[in-house]
Amino acid sequence: MLRSILGAASLAALAATPQVASAQDAEAGAELYLYYCATCHGLDATGHGPMAGVLLIPPTNLKALAPSDGDFPTARVVARIDGRDPLVSHGSPMPVYGPFFEGNYTAIKTPAGQPILTSKPIADLVAYLKTLQEG
Ligand code: HEC
Repeated sequence: MLRSILGAASLAALAATPQVASAQDAEAGAELYLYYCATCHGLDATGHGPMAGVLLIPPTNLKALAPSDGDFPTARVVARIDGRDPLVSHGSPMPVYGPFFEGNYTAIKTPAGQPILTSKPIADLVAYLKTLQEG
């Protein structure tokens, strides 16, 4: 309940001030990445972590999320990490992290300028993943 009130409050704040700075911290994201993601996606994020060999579906190369001629798919990546993407809860080996990273909501913007509300840790992870793109 408190969470939904907070969520609504920050959405309202967002509507009032469209240029709200999104405090994304790529360094914090890098730490989270090493802790939560590197076992599968690898220290270098190319998808060759120590657990990759036992998975039926290979982990994605996270350095190639953005197509060379396109934008970083912010919405898709957020949804994959927090589990809003239904693929995650239906048969993907990729764990659902939403509950781990809940709280401390923050808004990040898609390349098209659309705000997405997510947790601060996921926003930081996305900032880190953006720095990895080889495009
Ligand atoms: C248990 C192994 C495992 C862990 C841990 C893991 N992933 Fe994944 N991840 C996968 C696999 C396997 C896929 C590819 C299959 C799929 O897309 O569901 C994937 C897919 C993804 C995708 C989708 C890429 C796309 O093109 O849409 C993203 C983004 C991602 N992972 C990010 C992360 C982040 C960030 C973390 C840490 C918070 C993480 N993953 C932790 C196994 C894992």
